[in-house]
Amino acid sequence: MSNKKPGYYCQECGHFTARWMGRCSGCGAWNTYVEEVVVSPRNHRTVERQVEPRLLIEVPPEDSDRRSTGMTEFDRVLGGGVVPGSLILLGGDPGIGKSTLLLQVAGAIGSAGHRVLYVSGEESPHQIKLRADRLGVNNAELFVYPQTNLEAVEEQVAKVNPLLVVVDSIQTMYIPDITSASGSVSQVRGCTARLMQLAKKQSVSVFVVGHVTKEGMIAGPRVMEHMVDVVLYFEGERHQTFRILRGVKNRFGSTNEIGVFEMSGIGLQEVANPSSFFLMDHAFRNVAGTVVVPTMEGTRPLLVEIQSLVCPTSFGTPRRMTAGVDHNRVALIMAVLEKRLGLMLGNCDAYVNVVGGVRIDEPAADLGIAMALASSFRERAIDGRVVVIGELGLTGEIRPVTALDKRISEAAQLGFGCCIVPRQKGLRDISELETKEVATLTEAFDLVF
Ligand SMILES: Nc1ncnc2c1ncn2[C@@H]1O[C@H](COP(=O)(O)OP(=O)(O)O)[C@@H](O)[C@H]1O
Ligand SMILES: [Mg+2]
Repeated sequence: MSNKKPGYYCQECGHFTARWMGRCSGCGAWNTYVEEVVVSPRNHRTVERQVEPRLLIEVPPEDSDRRSTGMTEFDRVLGGGVVPGSLILLGGDPGIGKSTLLLQVAGAIGSAGHRVLYVSGEESPHQIKLRADRLGVNNAELFVYPQTNLEAVEEQVAKVNPLLVVVDSIQTMYIPDITSASGSVSQVRGCTARLMQLAKKQSVSVFVVGHVTKEGMIAGPRVMEHMVDVVLYFEGERHQTFRILRGVKNRFGSTNEIGVFEMSGIGLQEVANPSSFFLMDHAFRNVAGTVVVPTMEGTRPLLVEIQSLVCPTSFGTPRRMTAGVDHNRVALIMAVLEKRLGLMLGNCDAYVNVVGGVRIDEPAADLGIAMALASSFRERAIDGRVVVIGELGLTGEIRPVTALDKRISEAAQLGFGCCIVPRQKGLRDISELETKEVATLTEAFDLVF
């Protein structure tokens, strides 16, 4: 960044332009120019000279200073609490409850007698007060600060000297030196870098809220993920009350933990036993046509319920409808079921749906879809505590899948008792859950029914 001219660079081909353009004149791609700001070299040198090499054995351990967030589910995801001087990104869809969660954390840390600065670029102090009243957050150490200029925030952090800073949200913050609008890639990157410096220099923990944008990648939390210490995502269905907090990156702990919360009128309540919670409205039901499948979303495991309905066609051509899975993939699976298991699906209507509006693109859900279809066709329920993983081949063989361990651990964490998996090498033994290996569709079918 430092040896570049100030201006706009195409992210695809690196083409330079002094003024922003919609279309790159180098490669023709649209909307790929990102502003680069040149930091004056003199500033750089003074900062670099202040720091000196230290002997590693003389660096004091900081782990013991971890602060509890007041919620065990949250602490667990963080690896045991908030580490001083860390920058933590909390990403999620708008309205999912990020501000609520962080205000509750701010309240808990404030109640423990530590100073907290809650910077909001989205809400007025009155709005925050209303929410705080609803959540029962009420203490003398919590400062609210409506501000979008990051330099002003830096000044206030120096003045107030808090233990924790919450920045809600990164998309509303701006640095005056960068000319593009707040929320643009260059502002988001610039502000994150400055917050990182602030966290390290003052040893203050900083939570940053990042909204997931419609496009997902551009100017969303993704562009900050590599810069921050910890990346958490807050997820859930808008129409349902449960929320999952998931660690995606953690420089101070593992990312295998998830925290489960329930949104209520008085804020987010921890769900201490997630399996029983999911049992209520999702799985563990013995109903024909449904099966739970652990899928991967990028590097993250996600358990979804696949439902299917197979019934005789009343009009000429059978109907095949899918939601959340590929139509052609289902047609292929039905052909394999017909050929290898002899299920006469040819003159049946078939509907396949992934509950909760999730979309599954990976073949590891094949066996789950096949089992759901077979279950509905036979009108025989699959045990609700079973999850099914595997890719289906045309000859009816079950192929290995990626990240099998992660899928199984997620199922174990959510309380499932048995996992049907492809026969593959390097399968780790997980004591909480029984794994049954299958090599063919027929084997899986015999196991399940
Ligand atoms: N009075 C209320 N009672 C119950 N739930 C509420 C109330 N007000 C807001 N909520 C919940 O809080 C959510 C908004 O959370 P918020 O923390 O502002 O989300 P984010 O910061 O992620 O955009 C709403 O979607 C709603 O579910
Ligand atoms: Mg908010």
